[in-house]
Amino acid sequence: MVKKAEFELASGRVTLLAMRRRHLRAVMRIEDVVYPKPWTLSLFLSELAQRDMRAYHVACSASRIVGYSGLMLAGEEAHVTTIAVDPQWQRRKVGTCLLANMVKVAKSRGSSNLTLEVRVANKGAQALYFEFGFQPAGIRKNYYSETGEDALIMWACGIDTPEYAERLAGIEARLALSRPPPASSRGPGYVDPGALDRPGRSGNPWGAARGGGVIGAGG
Ligand SMILES: CC(C)(COP(=O)(O)OP(=O)(O)OC[C@H]1O[C@@H](n2cnc3c(N)ncnc32)[C@H](O)[C@@H]1OP(=O)(O)O)[C@@H](O)C(=O)NCCC(=O)NCCS
Repeated sequence: MVKKAEFELASGRVTLLAMRRRHLRAVMRIEDVVYPKPWTLSLFLSELAQRDMRAYHVACSASRIVGYSGLMLAGEEAHVTTIAVDPQWQRRKVGTCLLANMVKVAKSRGSSNLTLEVRVANKGAQALYFEFGFQPAGIRKNYYSETGEDALIMWACGIDTPEYAERLAGIEARLALSRPPPASSRGPGYVDPGALDRPGRSGNPWGAARGGGVIGAGG
């Protein structure tokens, strides 16, 4: 578990903190809008209780929680259980920060390989995973019971190798240079981050699951 990690993005600093119970209200607000079958509060609580085998983090911009991630640690292999970014903050590299952090945590805990499941139709998330060297390794049929969608199983192998360290360094070096993409390619509900600060605006693994009886990145 990393207590605190900081990333400098074109749009400002993003701080990653170990997820705590006090963060769950904000986490659930995001969870409820990004996933068709949101995890329950009690599922998050039970994940947080398994401190030795889990690493959950929140991403904060200023003091606002804008995303979160979850990792199950199992020796050589680590499993991304969830990753999500507030729709208003998508395509600003918060997901990249969360995934880069998960890779580092997995590596520091002795894992060589990282896996996850993603909805076959979720091409945006898959594009992010490809960037991190994840490769398709199979399909889990009807994994997402709520919609009957299949999951693509992906693996990033050799995250502890010098080659992978180079890939990660490249991703991190590009973070600060990135610029927000055109509005047409942002997620639903995107709000210009500058506008949020202007006056006048307020402002399972292996159990209960997001899919197929197995907790997995919600697709
Ligand atoms: C998937 C998710 C976490 C990505 O977070 P994000 O902060 O928007 O991702 P980033 O800004 O770091 O994206 C990095 C790169 O991934 C790819 N990518 C991310 N989202 C994309 C999308 N919707 N469409 C196409 N490419 C996308 C792009 O290559 C992007 O780089 P670019 O913006 O310079 O083109 C976010 O879209 C999300 O929360 N989705 C809903 C929940 C979900 O599907 N989680 C994944 C479950 S497996």
